[in-house]
Amino acid sequence: MDKIISLQELKKHNSQSSVWMVIHNDVYDVTAFLQEHPGGEDTLLDFAGKDGTQGFEDVGHSDDARELLKKYKIGTLAPGERTAHIESCSKLKWAVLALAGAIVIGFALKKYLNK
Ligand code: HEM
Repeated sequence: MDKIISLQELKKHNSQSSVWMVIHNDVYDVTAFLQEHPGGEDTLLDFAGKDGTQGFEDVGHSDDARELLKKYKIGTLAPGERTAHIESCSKLKWAVLALAGAIVIGFALKKYLNK
């Protein structure tokens, strides 16, 4: 099972000597990866001890990068301290579905009215 890590613990690892970062509610120790990161040390340090999900996703990291994450995972956030990224994703999903539904109904109505 994943080790549960609190936000309080995460925050302590916020400098070059130890860099922990949250991505999608999992905690990663990227201290050893700082020098190797193709996107630079500073981009990682900016999120040291914090949630880097937004930054990570904004860059559009490759599948290789996502695969690499596994190597650095050390645990997961406590359930009560997880952020709502997943929720906002599913909100987006519903918005897209609603839009698709509206378009389908629109077309059906148009066809019906043109009869
Ligand atoms: C800790 C987890 C991270 C891992 C394992 C990781 C890994 C990688 C890898 C493998 C690349 C090479 C390109 C690719 O394969 O997509 C890359 C590029 C990059 N990463 Fe990260 N990254 C991490 C976090 C972040 C964060 C939090 C940021 C910024 C907020 C960031 C910013 C960038 C940038 C700017 C590039 C360069 C993109 C380019 O030159 O086209 N990365 N990263």
